[in-house]
Amino acid sequence: MIFEQLSAGGCKSYLVGCAETSAAALIDPEIGLIDRYLGLAARNGLRIHYLIDTHTHADHFSATRELARQLRAPVAMHRMSPTPFVDLRLDDGDMLLVGKLRLQVLHTPGHTRDSMCLRIGDRICTGDTLLIGATGRTDLPSGDPEALHDSLFNHLLRLDPALLVFPAHDYHGRVHSTIGEEIASNPRLQVRERAPFCEMMRNLNLGMPSHLTEALRSNMNGAKTVAQMLAEAGAAVPFMSLLELKTRVENRAPELIVLDVREREAYEQGHVPGAKLLPRGQLELRVNQDLPDPTRRIVVYCELRRISTLATATLRELGFQRAVALDGGFKAWREAGFALQSGCEP
Ligand SMILES: [Fe+2]
Repeated sequence: MIFEQLSAGGCKSYLVGCAETSAAALIDPEIGLIDRYLGLAARNGLRIHYLIDTHTHADHFSATRELARQLRAPVAMHRMSPTPFVDLRLDDGDMLLVGKLRLQVLHTPGHTRDSMCLRIGDRICTGDTLLIGATGRTDLPSGDPEALHDSLFNHLLRLDPALLVFPAHDYHGRVHSTIGEEIASNPRLQVRERAPFCEMMRNLNLGMPSHLTEALRSNMNGAKTVAQMLAEAGAAVPFMSLLELKTRVENRAPELIVLDVREREAYEQGHVPGAKLLPRGQLELRVNQDLPDPTRRIVVYCELRRISTLATATLRELGFQRAVALDGGFKAWREAGFALQSGCEP
């Protein structure tokens, strides 16, 4: 078995492959690691057959849908998943065949209603049901302390104590544990009775994960994240360096349109000399009158580079094939001490 654990922040994902047949599955992939998963699969000579989420994640962005599209492989989740784009809905006791490997599904609700663990030979990927020295929280949507108690004490913890535990999170850099070690030393599992366990889980008073609503929106509806939109726009446009623009401004390069897509107030306080104002919000509405020549070279800037990247992608879609974004925003221009102009447009 080829078994690779990848970490992004505290989130862990797993590439599980059959060395004999080159078939593989990816468990809990994270959107920021797509290139690494594909690179790792290629390096190990693996073809990914399944993209599996152990549950609907509320704290990070799942890459299952995007990878499913790229790899033409199915997204597999527990049948209770609220996500409409799941191709393969799994039930307790189901098995996925990955070459000669067997991935066995255990439905373990509690952290979420659709939580499952995957047993693979001598190990088990426990998702957020059982973590090293902790358990998944039960205060996020569809969480249920009673269900978690049942999943842990009546199912998971009754498995072979030697089974290796690979969780979906760890914030202390630990790689794995075993069922036996968790039974012996996991503080939350020392509270074995149902009522006190639920009482403890209800009173953890954890802060809400950052990006909660965006993560649920993205993971449940397959919506793009803001970071994805920016990355896609960034991949679709070329950039111009600050120094290049400075030189061109100093030489008053006549063919170049410098486009400021910030709001009027910011523009009037200070802008790149000779820049034209066209706020991002009005771009599509004013493009025909303000930018009549689609063959002109246009460099777009905003305060921090993000809005200008989106605006440049829009301009390219509108047929301005020589539109580029400034690598750096007006903030960087200002901080570099380059020339400024203030006031209204000429
Ligand atoms: Fe989770």
